Amino acid sequence: MENTRKPDTLVFFGSFDPPHCGHAALLRAAAQRIRPARILLIPAYLAPFKTSHSAPAADRLDMLRCGLLPLLPKRWRRIAKIDTRELSSRRRVYTVETLKKIQAQHPDWILHCIVGSDSAKAWPRWRAPQRLAQLARWWTAARPGASLRRIPRNFSLIRRPMPDISSTDIRADLAAGLDASRRLHPSSSSLIAKKGLYGTDLLLGIKRGLKPRRFAHTLAVRALAEALAKRWGEDIRRASLAALLHDCGLMIAEKDLAAYARKHRLPVPSLAHIIRRQPRLLHAWVGADLARRRFGCRDKAVLDAVRRHTLGAPRMSRLDLLLYVADTVSLDRDHPQAAHLRRRAFQDLDAAFAACLSAKLSDALQRHAWLHPISLRLWNRLHAPRS
Ligand SMILES: [Fe+2]
Ligand SMILES: [Fe+2]
Repeated sequence: MENTRKPDTLVFFGSFDPPHCGHAALLRAAAQRIRPARILLIPAYLAPFKTSHSAPAADRLDMLRCGLLPLLPKRWRRIAKIDTRELSSRRRVYTVETLKKIQAQHPDWILHCIVGSDSAKAWPRWRAPQRLAQLARWWTAARPGASLRRIPRNFSLIRRPMPDISSTDIRADLAAGLDASRRLHPSSSSLIAKKGLYGTDLLLGIKRGLKPRRFAHTLAVRALAEALAKRWGEDIRRASLAALLHDCGLMIAEKDLAAYARKHRLPVPSLAHIIRRQPRLLHAWVGADLARRRFGCRDKAVLDAVRRHTLGAPRMSRLDLLLYVADTVSLDRDHPQAAHLRRRAFQDLDAAFAACLSAKLSDALQRHAWLHPISLRLWNRLHAPRS
């Protein structure tokens, strides 16, 4: 039962987009320090520094209920309540407004507000900071690697080690198809997956659109592309996204690829030859176009990598090379050189790319297949003796 004689009230404002283990750790540490009689979690309908939230308010509220409260020890969970006044207002509400209302309703309460260190650093930009400082005592804690230099003087610091978790990183990871489950309560993870929040609809969309074997290949390419990105200092999320999208062109039946390329006027070199000799090659161009139109990818580097993953290009970025190699020697590939080239890719990416190109061309020659001029030009550039 709530101890009504004790006035200390811990208030946690946030977007909770999504709520995660870092929120729970901060709340737990603050509660242990302050020993409040009650805890109020106040999710924002629209946080003052944001123009929109990624997940709808109702889903953020559900995740707070089923994904944050269960992360708290029973002792704090018993006295924690989700206060939906800001959500119900369906508008941007400034913290000072809410605190004034709480104070008017409960003049005997001593309010303690807890915020993450990033929000604390933005204190000068908060509305009415002086009034806020009068209304409540302010607390924060630092995440690993986060500097404490710009934390305002009116904040008290909770000196407890905090996990390095942020909603921003979680959203970015989920959008890139990376696993964020260790930073979330399982109920939040399943709600996110079920509703396709934070771009997880991309993974579902790819899964639904591809045949099971092609989807398994996509996941294998993604795993290798992420590992190679880590090895070569490339953006892991970008590599992951490019890998996830790389074969989305195969959602279009092979017989329809040419019609798609013509309809959308895709700039495919030697289009007529490809259509006659190897229409399946079109999936790279069609894939880049689908990635933009259907899956909303606006990252030019990712779209280029998707477009170049089968034939390469005269000039290739490291992301292009990485995806080309990951696609050629992913774990599901069983050609004789795959394992060797996979290892090689971690030692020398350029050499692995040249070897992958060579393996692909040898295979095509053995099958008496048509060779695209782009592949031939690449071969000549990589293997012609230097003058
Ligand atoms: Fe492909
Ligand atoms: Fe592929």
